[in-house]
Amino acid sequence: LELTVQPEKEKAISDKLIGVFFEDINYGADGGLYAELVQNRDFEYVAGENHRVKEWGPTYAWSLKGEGAEMSIQTSSPIHPNNSHYLSLKVNQAGAELSNTGFDGMVIKEGEKYDFSFFARTAGKSGKAKISLYSPDGSVLANKTVSISSKDWKKVSTTLQAKASADAATLGISLLTEGEYDLDMVSLFPQNTFKGHKNGLRPDLAQAIADIRPRFVRFPGGCASHGQGLENIYRWKNTVGPLETRKPMKNIWGYHQTMGIGYFEYFQFCEDIGAEPLPVIAAGVPCQNSACIPGKLLSGGQQGGIPMEEMDAYIQDILDLIDYANGDPKKSQWAKLRAESGHPKPFNMKYIGIGNEDLITDVFEERFTLIYDAIKKHHPEITVIGTVGPFYEGTDYEEGWNLADRLNVPMVDEHYYNTPGWFIYNQNYYDKYDRSKSKVYLGEYAAHLPGRPNNIETALAEALYLTAVERNGDMVLMTSYAPLLAKEGYTQWNPDLIYFNNKEVKPSVGYYTQLLYGQNSGDRYLPAESKIDNNRNDVRSRIASSIVRDSQTGDLIIKLVNLLPAAVNSQLNLPADAKDKQAKVTVLSGDPDDQNAKPVEKALEASDKLSYTLPPYSFSVIRFSAK
Ligand code: AHR
Repeated sequence: LELTVQPEKEKAISDKLIGVFFEDINYGADGGLYAELVQNRDFEYVAGENHRVKEWGPTYAWSLKGEGAEMSIQTSSPIHPNNSHYLSLKVNQAGAELSNTGFDGMVIKEGEKYDFSFFARTAGKSGKAKISLYSPDGSVLANKTVSISSKDWKKVSTTLQAKASADAATLGISLLTEGEYDLDMVSLFPQNTFKGHKNGLRPDLAQAIADIRPRFVRFPGGCASHGQGLENIYRWKNTVGPLETRKPMKNIWGYHQTMGIGYFEYFQFCEDIGAEPLPVIAAGVPCQNSACIPGKLLSGGQQGGIPMEEMDAYIQDILDLIDYANGDPKKSQWAKLRAESGHPKPFNMKYIGIGNEDLITDVFEERFTLIYDAIKKHHPEITVIGTVGPFYEGTDYEEGWNLADRLNVPMVDEHYYNTPGWFIYNQNYYDKYDRSKSKVYLGEYAAHLPGRPNNIETALAEALYLTAVERNGDMVLMTSYAPLLAKEGYTQWNPDLIYFNNKEVKPSVGYYTQLLYGQNSGDRYLPAESKIDNNRNDVRSRIASSIVRDSQTGDLIIKLVNLLPAAVNSQLNLPADAKDKQAKVTVLSGDPDDQNAKPVEKALEASDKLSYTLPPYSFSVIRFSAK
C-alpha cells in the first residue's frame, strides 16, 4: 500500500461523526446504567408475562416473611396518579420483614454509603422499621432504624454504610411495630454515582460510554421511542420532575421502565460527557404505525397514528420539550421545571430526531409533516433529523428519501444491520450520495454475523466502513453503533457494544473500534492517492485508510485497516510537518474470531515518509501530535 496525501484536496468534515445511541433495551436502563439497586421500587410492574418471566407483576422481586403478615397491592389513594400502585402491609406481629432481591442481587461495597428512602404512611399509631442489607449468607452488612409516623404519604430517608462487601445482597425492611402501613418508591441508591449526582448513573458503565468521547448521545430509542401501540409511545413529560410523579411503563422490549432515567438525566449525562443531546421522538405513530403489535397487524400500515384531532397537543408537547431543554425559567413553565430539578441553565439542545425507522405511509407522512413544519416555524435553530424508514435487504429507502426531498429535511436517519461482507463490499455506499440532498445520520448500524458475537472480523469490518464514512464526512454527519448496552442474561438483541453484569463492564471488541474513532476524530479530511500492489478486488477491498486532521490540536491522524490474513507493508507520504511531530500507533488486532482483543499502543518514529506494516487482521491508528 502506498498512500500519498493530497493536501490541496483537504475538505471540512463533520466534527460530530462518532456518537452513541442509548436505548432501554437489554436492561440498559433499570438494572443497568441507572444506579438504583431496588427492582420494582414503584410496584408498577404490569401484571402478566414479561419477555422472560412467567410470574411478572407488581410484587415481582418482593417477598414478605412473618407470622400472619400480609401484603397486597392497592391503588385507591396513591402518592400520585402517574404512580398508581403501592404496597399495603398488615403486620400482626412485630418483626415481619419485606425483602427486595434487586436485579439478581445488589452489589454492596465495604465502606460505601447507600441512600435508602421510601414513601410511607401508617393507618394507626406510628411505627418503626429496621432497614437492613444482607449478604447471601444472611449476615448483616448495614442497618438503620427509621420511623413511620405520618398518616399521609411522607418520604422517609436514611443512609446506610456497608461494613462488608457482597455481590448479591438483598434489602430487608423489618416492621418493628404491629400495624398497617402503606409503602411506595422504595429506593436504595449508592452515593457513588457517575459525577456524584443524586438519582445518578452507574459510574463504571457511564465511564465506559464517556471514554468513547461521543460527540452526541441519541436517546431514548430506537423502538423504545415510538413504542408498541399508541399508549406505549414514549412521552417525555412522563419522565421529568420528582421521581414519584413520573409515569413508569412497560417498554417495547417487554420489561419495565421506571423512568428514573428520564429526560433530565439524559440531558445531564450529555452535559457531563460533553456530548450533544439528540432526543428521538415518535412521529405521531408507534412502531411501524402499530403494524408490529402481535395479533394486530394493520393492513398496509395505514392505521395506527395519533388521531389527527390530538396532533396539536402532541406537537405542543414537542415544542414544550424544546422549552424544557433550552428555555428561560422566567418565561416557560417547562424551563422552570428544569430549573427546579437543579439545572437553571439551558441544556443547549440543537438536534431533535422525529421518527424511528417508521414505515413511510400516508399516516406517517401526514403527522411527520405537521411536526416538522411546527418545529421549523417555532424553532428554526433546531436541526430536525427525519427517518427514511426501516432497512430491509434490497431497499433503498426511496419513500423516505422522497419525503425528505419534498420537505427539505436537513438530515435523515438511516439504519442497517448487515454482515461483515456487506460492510466490506459497500464502502462506496455514500460516495454516490447526492450532496445537494439531506445530510445523513447513520443512527443504527452494526456488522452482524448471524447468531455469533462481536469479534475481530466484525470490529474490523466496522472500522473499515468508518474510513469510508470519514471520507464522506461532508455528507454523513453523525453515526452511532447500535445497540449500546446489554446485561448478561437479559439480552433481547445481539450483538451489542458493551455487555455488563451487576459487577463488571465487559466491552465487546467492537467497542474498541468506536473508542479509537471517538478518541481520534478530526474535522478536516485529507484525501490521499492510494496504490495497492494487487489487482484482486477481494484483496483490495479488505485494505482501507483514512487521514484526518483535528484543527483544534493540529494533530494528524491516519487510520489503516487490514482485513487480510497477511501483513501489508505500507509507505505513507504525509504532509511535511509530520516529521516535526511526535507519533504513536494504537493497534487492535487478532484472529478473526477473537472476542477479547484490546488495543495496544506504542511510540513510532515520526516522519513524513513513514514505512509502516499493517499487521494481519488489524486496525491501526497513527497519531501525530505536537511535541
Ligand atoms: O437497536 C435495536 C433496534 O433496532 C432499535 O430499537 C430499532 O430502531 C431497530 O430496529
